[in-house]
Amino acid sequence: MTSAFTHLECSACGARRTPTEIVGVCDCGETFLARYDLERARAALGPRPSPGRRTSFWEYAPLLPVLDPANRVTLGEGGAPVIPSRRWGARHGLSRLLFQWEGSNPTLSFKARGAACAISRAKELGIRKVALPSAGNAGSALAAYAAAAGMEALVVVPEETPGPVKAEARAFGAEVMEVAGGLPEASRALAQRAESEGWFVCSTWMEPYRVEGKKTMAFEIAGRFGEDLPDVIIFPTGGGVGTVAFWKAFDEMEGVGWIGTRRPRLVAVQLESCAPIVRAMDNGDETLEPWLEPGETDAAGLKVPAPRAGKLILKALRASRGTAIGIPENELSHVGSALGKEEGLWTSPEGAAAAAAAPMLLDTGWLGKEEKILVFLTASGLKYG
Ligand SMILES: Cc1ncc(COP(=O)(O)O)c(C=O)c1O
Ligand SMILES: [Zn+2]
Repeated sequence: MTSAFTHLECSACGARRTPTEIVGVCDCGETFLARYDLERARAALGPRPSPGRRTSFWEYAPLLPVLDPANRVTLGEGGAPVIPSRRWGARHGLSRLLFQWEGSNPTLSFKARGAACAISRAKELGIRKVALPSAGNAGSALAAYAAAAGMEALVVVPEETPGPVKAEARAFGAEVMEVAGGLPEASRALAQRAESEGWFVCSTWMEPYRVEGKKTMAFEIAGRFGEDLPDVIIFPTGGGVGTVAFWKAFDEMEGVGWIGTRRPRLVAVQLESCAPIVRAMDNGDETLEPWLEPGETDAAGLKVPAPRAGKLILKALRASRGTAIGIPENELSHVGSALGKEEGLWTSPEGAAAAAAAPMLLDTGWLGKEEKILVFLTASGLKYG
């Protein structure tokens, strides 16, 4: 199966680039998105996979941007299991709560999906050196795929990044540069080195292909659930790549006839102490204002004070009739430990935040207790030691 990728299109001004060009952000400052010939994709994909079958990442190649199958860099990403809640959901009055366990991915987080796609495209374009500022998981995922592809990798992380994540990236041979401060400081430090040292920057929303890999989460949902899609998808949102990937994938799946017009409502889960998306949703804004002075948190992946793709995130949430919610810090360890003991799932603080949102939204009446709810546990707790 080959890709039906035709071109990149700027999400704001519509400028186009060909698949053979190496691109970052558009001249207008916004993000490029990959576009496909959906008729060709429809023919190549065939009918939606039958419900219940566990599919694999590269089955969706027609809607992924890697043109030559020889350039696929794979470590066994995707195909994450969905596990119905055994106790925790019922205890909170949620009768149809499901967990998608992304800790089964290479490097134990969903970031492997984005890295698989970004590195495969980088290989296709002849790039030899890749770099990324990261709260941790995206960096170690990129480092693993760069190692698999025989590329050099530089990962710039805040000092406070958990030790196991830094050790993991180093184990893959990446240079791990630690900086004082948070993600904005890491991005600035990387920008200072990138040009003079010739690194290709894979920063969130400055590189167009990580979002494409994350779409496979939605493709898997369509295959697994068939006509009976979840009513609600709850996802922990930092830079918003995962959140936008769902919406883009649902659009494309409608285009190839895999789903109808009914789609899950999307919930973006943030932290009370860093909630630019929640604030913009509440205020009816179309763009995000940076969140000044984000608080200390264990959920480093959600401490993103100024997500670049604000417009895309807000559009995806509103179009799905979704919402955004901020979680208090003390809920993370509380819910994380309950999921370990009651479900046998030890998730990262970001995953715990996503789960914590479900009972909170039931309390406000936004969720119905009979609704089918899919909560994304985006990484394993092992990485946060
Ligand atoms: C475990 C985990 N979950 C969720 C997120 C947020 O992902 P996104 O940037 O796609 O919104 C991150 C980002 O670092 C993460 O590491
Ligand atoms: Zn543009």
